[in-house]
Amino acid sequence: MNGIFDRRNKLNDLTGKEWLKLTKSFWVSEKCKEDKFAFQHPAPFLIKDIERLISMFTKKGMIVLDPFNGVGTTLIACNNLKRKGVGIDLSKKYCNLTEKRLKEFNIKDGQKIICGDSLKEISKIKGRIDYCVTSPPYHNILKNNGQGLRAEKEGKRNGSRIGVEYYSEDKNDLGNQKSYENFLNLFGEIMLAVHKKLNDKKYTSIIISDFTVNKKETCVQSDIFKIMESIGFEFSGTTILLQDNKPLYPFGYPYAYKINHQHQNIITFRKNS
Ligand SMILES: C[S@@+](CC[C@H](N)C(=O)[O-])C[C@H]1O[C@@H](n2cnc3c(N)ncnc32)[C@H](O)[C@@H]1O
Repeated sequence: MNGIFDRRNKLNDLTGKEWLKLTKSFWVSEKCKEDKFAFQHPAPFLIKDIERLISMFTKKGMIVLDPFNGVGTTLIACNNLKRKGVGIDLSKKYCNLTEKRLKEFNIKDGQKIICGDSLKEISKIKGRIDYCVTSPPYHNILKNNGQGLRAEKEGKRNGSRIGVEYYSEDKNDLGNQKSYENFLNLFGEIMLAVHKKLNDKKYTSIIISDFTVNKKETCVQSDIFKIMESIGFEFSGTTILLQDNKPLYPFGYPYAYKINHQHQNIITFRKNS
């Protein structure tokens, strides 16, 4: 243990020194060899990044929800830190991959996979949750830009494009919403269900970057902020998750400035009602 644990700390199991380190407004995304399996999904978290969040916002034994579970990175991080994870995904394929991944890590209990639509499944969870960490599909970006998955090269997703892969054909898949407004509305409905299940004074972190909608750069984080505040969440801060290994594209060159996204925003909110 690095530092002294304060007995008044009801939020997590960190010492003062460890807590302070995690309040930095930027983190460098950290890869480990256990991430390799996750690259069967087009947009997985990295385990170490999620471990940092879970260790900041929960104590051992607490319950963590990921309503967009993908290949279960949140569940792996929960297992590593002795938290109980609940992961929901409407894609059967990703639920099966999560099951396979848990087996590969020899995880037998403590982690739960629910295959279904978060809009319906969250309210059915028994009891309450202590933290929600998640990353929704980025609207229809995977379908729209037709660029597809990148091959892995030297352990990084920066090889040549190997084809388009998106999540599912389900009409309630956030990635299948025709308009950006529909995407935001559905996301908001799911977050309302999260708010109802979350214990009071507990946190929710949304990991998302800005992206283009109809070819226009869009401040997605401000829209997420408005939705979450309208539900009753209070904004706690944005942590920039630096992904300094992505290739740079000359999108607007030499005519106009167009940004290269080399980070995700981890936007954290607290339930204060
Ligand atoms: C960005 S990915 C999440 C990846 C995940 N963080 C991981 O580490 O693997 C978003 C996931 O949301 C799922 N999804 C989309 N709409 C959903 C809904 N309404 N209910 C449940 N899952 C949904 C997709 O199938 C996709 O796997």
